[in-house]
Amino acid sequence: MELIIQRDPEAAALLLARIVANEMRTNPRTVLGLATGNTMEAVYRHLVHMHQTSKLSFAKVRTFNLDEYVGLAPDDKNSYRHFMNERLFHQVNIKLENTHLPDGCAADLEAECRDYEKRIEKAGGIDLQLLGIGKSGHIGFNEPLSALRSRTRVKALAPATIKQNAPLFGAEHRVPRRALTMGVGTILEARRCLLLATGEAKAEIIARAVEGPITSMVTASALQLHPRATVIVDEAAATKLKEREYYRWIFANEPEWEEYR
Ligand code: F6R
Repeated sequence: MELIIQRDPEAAALLLARIVANEMRTNPRTVLGLATGNTMEAVYRHLVHMHQTSKLSFAKVRTFNLDEYVGLAPDDKNSYRHFMNERLFHQVNIKLENTHLPDGCAADLEAECRDYEKRIEKAGGIDLQLLGIGKSGHIGFNEPLSALRSRTRVKALAPATIKQNAPLFGAEHRVPRRALTMGVGTILEARRCLLLATGEAKAEIIARAVEGPITSMVTASALQLHPRATVIVDEAAATKLKEREYYRWIFANEPEWEEYR
C-alpha cells in the first residue's frame, strides 16, 4: 500500500484525477470502477474540466460503479445513477451504454448481483477502482463484518452509514436500509485501487484502515492485501497516522511519483 498526503482536499482530489487521466490517456479503453459520495465530487469536477480543456476522452471508457441503493429508481435524485449522470456522465463524451451501476430496483436482486459480476468479467475486469471510505470503515457498502472475499450482493447499511448519508435524504428515516454493492473480493480483483479520504472526520478510520490490523470490521483494511493500492489523503485526514513522515518521504523521493509532485 502507498499513502500520499496532500495539503488540502482540492489537491488530493486533483492528484487522484490526474492518475485517472494518465491511465485513460495510456489506455483509452480503460475500465474504471467508480464511487459516489461527497469526497468524489471534486474528482469528477477535475475530470470534467480536463475533458473540456485538455481533450481527455471518455469515448471508449467503460465504467462500473461500486453500489446503488435498493429501491431507488435511476431518476430518483438520491440514486447513485442520478449522481453519476449529473456529476460526470452527462458532462463528458462517454457512451451511456458503457456506464454500469447495479440496478437497485431489479425484481430479482440476487440475479442482478450475479449479472453485475458477469458484466465486469466480460469487460475484462476493472483497471482502476476509485474508492471513498465511510465512517464505518466501509469501501463500497461493505459494512463491518463483510467477508473479505465477498462478491456483489445485497447489504444492510450500518447505523454509522445511515447517519453519514442522512443529510442528502433530509432525515435518517428516509435513507434506504439496503444497497447492492460490489463485494470486498470483487474490489480486490481490480488491477489498481485508489482510495481518497479528506477531512478531519476521516482521520481515525483512515488510521485504522491503513495502520491497523486487516479486519472485516474495517473493510478498507483489506486494501492492505492488494498489490497496488494507493491511499490519498489531505493533511486533516492524515493527523492520526503514526508513520506520516515516512509516507511523506516516499512521495517526495520515489521516482514513481516524480510527475505528480
Ligand atoms: C459510494 C461508496 C461509499 C463512499 C463512502 C464515503 O459509492 O462506495 O463507500 O465512498 O461512504 O462517502 P463520502 O465521500 O460521502 O464521505
